[in-house]
Amino acid sequence: MKIIFAVSLVAGMAIIGAGLGNASEKKDVGQAATKSSLRDSQAKPHFKNTGAPVSAARGEAIFIDHCALCHGLHGKGDGPRSAFFQQGIQYIPDLTFEGLLKGRDKELLQSISEGLRRLPEPAYVMPQFKYILSEEEIKSVLAYVKTLPAAAKKH
Ligand code: HEC
Repeated sequence: MKIIFAVSLVAGMAIIGAGLGNASEKKDVGQAATKSSLRDSQAKPHFKNTGAPVSAARGEAIFIDHCALCHGLHGKGDGPRSAFFQQGIQYIPDLTFEGLLKGRDKELLQSISEGLRRLPEPAYVMPQFKYILSEEEIKSVLAYVKTLPAAAKKH
């Protein structure tokens, strides 16, 4: 009886030991992921330019896929997800308003690439697209956005 108890005790300790071993391995992986060298190497955009020309036509397809969800098909700020924004705290601009877009290319490209970091939480809502779209796709989508005010006048 004593022997059986001793065997099961040893087996139990071995199982616990294996469990602990796994836990500490997982912890190491987690720690490695937060090391700054690794973080910096992953901080670069993943998508290389395809070399395709920047065009508003291409930008339209990108807008439908990635932006209309919030901004609405015509950029009025009425996409289905905009209904979830908290009134008075979160705000989605009307992209058909020419004053928002005129002479702001550099800033707008940055807003699309990085999100609006200049805003405090929780007003900083729009995602950063630099990990989702290539640089030339971001330029194409902005070229398309800039056609929205003129298109809105025609509706
Ligand atoms: C999750 C919803 C969401 C998606 C998706 C989204 N936006 Fe936005 N966008 C916003 C909100 C909200 C703002 C206002 C700023 C903020 O709250 O982050 C904004 C602001 C902007 C602005 C104004 C920036 C400025 O500097 O004045 C532009 C231009 C814009 N979005 C273009 C785009 C484009 C192009 C895409 C697609 C590639 C896109 N957005 C995808 C929610 C979104």
